[in-house]
Amino acid sequence: MKKYSIVVAGGGSTFTPGIALMLLEEQDRFPIRKIKFYDNDGKRQETIAKACEIYIKENAPEIEFSYTTDPEEAFTDVDFCMAHIRVGKYAMREKDEKIPLKYGVVGQETCGPGGIAYGMRSIGGIIELIDYMEKYSPNAWMLNYSNPAAIVAEATRRLRPDSKILNICDMPVDLEEKMADMVGLKSRKQLDTQYYGLNHFGWWHKIYDNEGNDLMPIIRKKMAENGFAGAISQTDQHVENSWMDTFAKAKDVYALDPETIPNTYLKYYLFPDYVVEHANPEHTRANEVMEHREKHIFEVCNNIIEAGTAKGSPFEPDAHATYIVDLACAIAKNTKEKMLLIVPNEGTIENFDRTAMVEVPCIVGSNGYERIVQGAIPQFQKGLMEQQVSVEKLTVAAWIEGSYQKLWQAITLSKTVPSARVAKLILDDLIEANKEYWPELK
Ligand code: NAD
Ligand code: G6P
Ligand code: MN
Repeated sequence: MKKYSIVVAGGGSTFTPGIALMLLEEQDRFPIRKIKFYDNDGKRQETIAKACEIYIKENAPEIEFSYTTDPEEAFTDVDFCMAHIRVGKYAMREKDEKIPLKYGVVGQETCGPGGIAYGMRSIGGIIELIDYMEKYSPNAWMLNYSNPAAIVAEATRRLRPDSKILNICDMPVDLEEKMADMVGLKSRKQLDTQYYGLNHFGWWHKIYDNEGNDLMPIIRKKMAENGFAGAISQTDQHVENSWMDTFAKAKDVYALDPETIPNTYLKYYLFPDYVVEHANPEHTRANEVMEHREKHIFEVCNNIIEAGTAKGSPFEPDAHATYIVDLACAIAKNTKEKMLLIVPNEGTIENFDRTAMVEVPCIVGSNGYERIVQGAIPQFQKGLMEQQVSVEKLTVAAWIEGSYQKLWQAITLSKTVPSARVAKLILDDLIEANKEYWPELK
């Protein structure tokens, strides 16, 4: 069986150890000969990489492992680049969340002005990775889950339309696990679903089991009672209280359109007042992540390095990340698996902009993806999506053209922002905070 060479871009990410260990676990279906980590922060990456190196030596010595900040070394001889970079790291996520909150506006990693700010930082970073990959391994595929995926995907559509990059998100994976649990099935793989939307902005409109039985009636009932709260995901990754609140709030989001099952992220657009009232402008999700996930991962890595062994360490494969191997296998082995990808619409949603980057089910194989037609969508969803896709397109246009005007329009158009005046106040603060990362705006 062919063995693959992988570069993980964003080697210093808090998700890297979980993904690396998951890759080792999945070798039966996705055999690996080489794993490389690449990051532009050598020091951050080193801690994660040294610990993973010890683990890999002890558990899969046949896999060649290395880490580097040199693009040529990282991207030469690779089949896949798994990209999860965070340009500006948590320090900038914290600003993305806190600046809008100062003006009473939702402060969120990927939604509203915070997501726009993050997008303006990510575009350059992702384009750089694509260019390295194409220079040193022209046949490789990039599997990208760096955020904000909607804006990143629109940027790659405009700037690198022919590149082999697939953008994917794990939120629907987690929610499908929860829906499987609601109907007494073991795994999301036992569901057959239809979904349409933008990334972090979509709805399920058909859910069957593998025998073709309609599961919507049971799921609707459960959503009306509890939202996603109480439903168990086999791949539990979102366990903290702030996430529990999001799963419970999905009950109210669902109530707006009981015909469909919403993505949890819609709460930021449909209940921004609630979100702001329940936020602490001094302590946001970025602080939680730094105090919990980041601290924990780096502590575990440092302990492994000090002990010189990973035996007995709480290092665990990230079960939730197997969707990335599903995607890699689909390409490597032409499995034709159905999965949600963020792709150009091209008529998949009949009554929606053909050039929009939409999240829809696709059949994935070695020649890429084929979209599954979703037909015409209802007025409510269409209206929301038209507004949001314009935010995303204007953000990318602002980045490409260096346009202050377009970025002001993008922020003004976000459903989370009450007026052009507030949009301008937020924008001016964001420009100041992002000097190091954004192109100059005129
Ligand atoms: P993190 O800050 O821990 O790690 C990101 C790493 O990227 C850092 O080590 C940083 O130095 C590196 N980096 C930043 N800019 C870079 C560049 N230009 N080139 C190379 N490396 C660069 O972040 P995290 O919380 O572990 O998240 C990583 C990414 O994964 C984020 O974009 C996050 O939003 C995304 N994510 C996406 C999904 C999804 O469903 N799509 C799920 C989880 C996380
Ligand atoms: C979900 C989303 C990701 C996002 C993550 C944030 O998994 O799909 O796109 O990055 O949540 O989680 P965090 O724990 O960092 O707040
Ligand atoms: Mn996501």
